[in-house]
Amino acid sequence: MAVFPSIEPAALAPGARVGRLRRHATARRMLAETLLRPEQLILPLFVKDGADDVRPIGALAGHAQWTVDRLDAEVDEITALGIPAVLLFGIPDHKDDGGTGAWDEHGPVPRAIARIKQRAPQLLVIADVCLCEYTAHGHCGTLDARGQVELASTLPLLARTAVAYADAGADVVAPSAMLDGMVAAIRAALDAAGHEEVAILSYAAKYASAMYGPFREAVASAPAFGDRAGHQLPAANAREAVREALRDEAEGADLLMVKPAGAYLDVIHRIRRRTSLPLAAYQVSGEYAMVEAAARLGWVDRRAAALETLVAIRRAGADLVITYFAKDAARWLRGGDAT
Ligand code: PBG
Ligand code: ZN
Repeated sequence: MAVFPSIEPAALAPGARVGRLRRHATARRMLAETLLRPEQLILPLFVKDGADDVRPIGALAGHAQWTVDRLDAEVDEITALGIPAVLLFGIPDHKDDGGTGAWDEHGPVPRAIARIKQRAPQLLVIADVCLCEYTAHGHCGTLDARGQVELASTLPLLARTAVAYADAGADVVAPSAMLDGMVAAIRAALDAAGHEEVAILSYAAKYASAMYGPFREAVASAPAFGDRAGHQLPAANAREAVREALRDEAEGADLLMVKPAGAYLDVIHRIRRRTSLPLAAYQVSGEYAMVEAAARLGWVDRRAAALETLVAIRRAGADLVITYFAKDAARWLRGGDAT
């Protein structure tokens, strides 16, 4: 871990020649304060109902919706690149008001978990837990009379979903609804079902962000009305994010996450300083799409821009980075240093 917040650097003396060591490529590499390695990357993967179908996602160049029977080659490529973990999202054929597809053992996520575990037992399988991909209205839970997500009825459904994914063989479940008490509810349900070994990666500080646009297109989960500002964090607030993170730690989270990453590096850093839990950051679809679009226009260099954003997320204090660049970055990093 390259972040030592207790060691504050001394001021440079006037006239100091710090450039001496920067002139030498080897010295620059030796003195990198932050390392970026394939082992620290997590690749999001979209799995859908149906058979023999791989559908490219327009807004996420290089990514696709996979039917489970077509996953093997992709899984082989991921493991060959040295990427240790995937984060699964499901795209069901049918949605309903209760989001019942989320915990269907024949749904795309449980089937994908089993398939991946069979093909590559060493690949860590993380399953996103939320209802918004499965509800007809696109909200993250069941709704009360005012059309707001209702905690009391939603928490048991999130817990049930997490248990279904654990039953299928998930190593980690990642609740992303940003609802009070979701970590405690899921921990209790996992333990009661005999899944004491399944870990929880909590989307502890998830902001109401404009950066989820391509993802919502990919999984058709944009809310049919309203937005998620009623339960996701407001962009202006950082202290509130730290409180959420500490609360999720107290509820039993094994890993914490900040999302999005690039516009919230200060939040990553603040949470890093307040907890010793492992910390992940999610470089979300809009962050990826911005680099992709600018690169396609020839306005930034794709590789350099991507690696710069990733190393910055690590520098801020994230142990792990969830990124749509994971496969490319793993390829680039094989060639040597990050920058
Ligand atoms: C919700 C979820 C979202 C993302 C991950 N989990 C979307 C949302 O909150 O609307 C976004 C990820 C991305 O943009 O890459 N289950
Ligand atoms: Zn959701």
